Amino acid sequence: MIFNKMKNYKVDNRLKHIAFIMDGNGRWAKARSLPRNVGHKYGAKAFEETVKNCHEFGIKIVTVYAFSTENWSRPKNEIEAIMELLDTYIERAYEQKDIRYVFVGDKSVLSEDLRNKMISLEKATDKYDNILNIAFNYGGRAEIVNACNTLISSGASSVSEEDISSHLYTSHCSDPDLIVRTANEQRISNFLLWQCAYSEFYFTNILWPDFDKKELYKAIQSYYKRKRRFGGLIKGEE
Ligand code: IPE
Ligand code: IPE
Ligand code: MG
Repeated sequence: MIFNKMKNYKVDNRLKHIAFIMDGNGRWAKARSLPRNVGHKYGAKAFEETVKNCHEFGIKIVTVYAFSTENWSRPKNEIEAIMELLDTYIERAYEQKDIRYVFVGDKSVLSEDLRNKMISLEKATDKYDNILNIAFNYGGRAEIVNACNTLISSGASSVSEEDISSHLYTSHCSDPDLIVRTANEQRISNFLLWQCAYSEFYFTNILWPDFDKKELYKAIQSYYKRKRRFGGLIKGEE
């Protein structure tokens, strides 16, 4: 039944931007007595599928949390495996013809080779309208501090909300309408702290490598049941 409903399904303009905290790769691997890095490999596959599925459903902006500023505390071999997965993904990304890639986060501490590949991909795709933000070495607090410091060094003595928004890594797109977190965790883990002010949240027990089109569809249906008030009242409910 759900498969029939999903066929040719399209979102409307109430859902422009969806963001994912892709969590649970390690637990997925552990449940199969596999090394954590295998979980990341299957997580990368789920990520590619999800991007494709969002695109099919007509969602214009997708953001994924791939590596946080706190993830540097993981074992060296796990960090290297994640960097390698990103490297391989970037090579294949050129095959996708209609997505604008934006890496949100601090590139400056990454290897020169990876940084150059990220920048080249961003430049090569900046003409496309559908946006895929990949949050890599991303931290929400660092992002806000960085925006403030940029404003201070350009001579600002006070700042507005608009000033901060326009100096975040995500200044090219609207705030997320829906944030999905997998793996049974109900926290934000330093993701899009400023931008999530009025986002809807969807939490699921599904581990990220198992997150498929059906799960995405379920998250979207849950979103459409929400009443977004933005602090106001909804017509007819006063
Ligand atoms: C998410 O999966 C991927 C990253 C944080 C890079 P985890 O690696 O956090 O998986 P769990 O939470 O240990 O299961
Ligand atoms: C959040 O997941 C970061 C990413 C998905 C990249 P974590 O697994 O790092 O978050 P915590 O440590 O459980 O809060
Ligand atoms: Mg985790």
